Amino acid sequence: MNYLILILSTSKIYLNRIAQHNINKKNDIVKEYIQIFDTTLRDGEQVPGCKLATPQKVEIAKELEQLGVDVIEAGFPISSPGDFDAVTQISKTIKDATICALSRAVDSDIESAAEALKFANNGRIHTGIGTSEFHIFHKLNSNPEDIISRGEKAVKKARNVCSEVEFYAEDAGRTDNEFLARVIEKMISAGATIINIPDTTGYCLPHQYSEKIAYLMNNVPNIDKAILSTHCHNDLGLATANSIAGVQAGARQVECTINGVGERAGNTSLEEVVMILKQHDNINLHTQVKTERLTHLSRIVESEMNMPVQRNKAIVGENAFAHSSGIHQDGVIKNRETYEIINPIDVGADSSKIILTARSGRAALKYRAQLLKFNLSKDQLNYAYEKFLKLADRQIHINDNQLLELLNKI
Ligand code: KIV
Ligand code: ZN
Repeated sequence: MNYLILILSTSKIYLNRIAQHNINKKNDIVKEYIQIFDTTLRDGEQVPGCKLATPQKVEIAKELEQLGVDVIEAGFPISSPGDFDAVTQISKTIKDATICALSRAVDSDIESAAEALKFANNGRIHTGIGTSEFHIFHKLNSNPEDIISRGEKAVKKARNVCSEVEFYAEDAGRTDNEFLARVIEKMISAGATIINIPDTTGYCLPHQYSEKIAYLMNNVPNIDKAILSTHCHNDLGLATANSIAGVQAGARQVECTINGVGERAGNTSLEEVVMILKQHDNINLHTQVKTERLTHLSRIVESEMNMPVQRNKAIVGENAFAHSSGIHQDGVIKNRETYEIINPIDVGADSSKIILTARSGRAALKYRAQLLKFNLSKDQLNYAYEKFLKLADRQIHINDNQLLELLNKI
């Protein structure tokens, strides 16, 4: 009985915490709050060659807290002494964000996670088990009823040693919805207040993932005692689209990583989700991420993990605000918003770049010359442009020194 009261009261506190966030008013529309659960240090770090030492992880965790994420998944303590140490040190250092530790539905994993979290101000154990047929019958050589009872046992155990428990239904993306709803009902009754619906293999299409979340919102009788979380992988390049579809269908937490790092094709990219919610006012959802810090943290993760960000990566790629074709350059010089939907300042990037290439036009040349304090007359510009094109055909792009040399000659 006492146990039941404890579960009911803590889930109430947790849901109140979410409700308090749902007050960001804009044009009198109440925007609902989306929690950002960053798993760069756990799922993101599971990439060969991206291994981080504890001090690097602590530094990134501090940056994540400054960025404003709600939850930092710091590691999988049972997996190695190094991971255990990282979760412990991060728990000691971080004050506001919740620190989360992963475990399988196994007693020793849960005990190790609880031990590593013991210094955390707000700790969360993330435990779970596979729920798709692949996992139940092939990986775990089990049956559906056994999976439910192992999950329940794990959630109850985690709940006894930690104030907050999140349950993951691994491969939920390929799990039958009716069975998934049964599993989730039991896990919420056992004490989980956050239910993670991972598309572990990145298989779902956005409408399928959205239907799954909507089905669970409508068919799990005690769903009001928990929130659903998205956790999407990018095997088909759909992780961000699926996460957005998930929150539009009712999920209230998104699991993601900086730069989208993660196993295989990666996880949902934090910066993409946050900026989509920020740019699309009519989705009516918001986060507390300080978006001006996104580029800074992206560069840190890129160099610490030794994992280069592709130049054309949305939001944080080197080319995200660079324009090189004449038509686009002319438009941006006249009005940045002609070809940019995000102000680079909002994500902490350098201002929009006008790159001089053989595809550039006179407007770009005139603009770049002006930045170098050359105000060219119409004739000078025509003359310079002819010289410029000859040079540009032989180069990838023309830098300031080359441009200066050319302008000085005329
Ligand atoms: O992708 C996945 O299913 C996971 C779980 C362990 C949460 O990372
Ligand atoms: Zn994952």
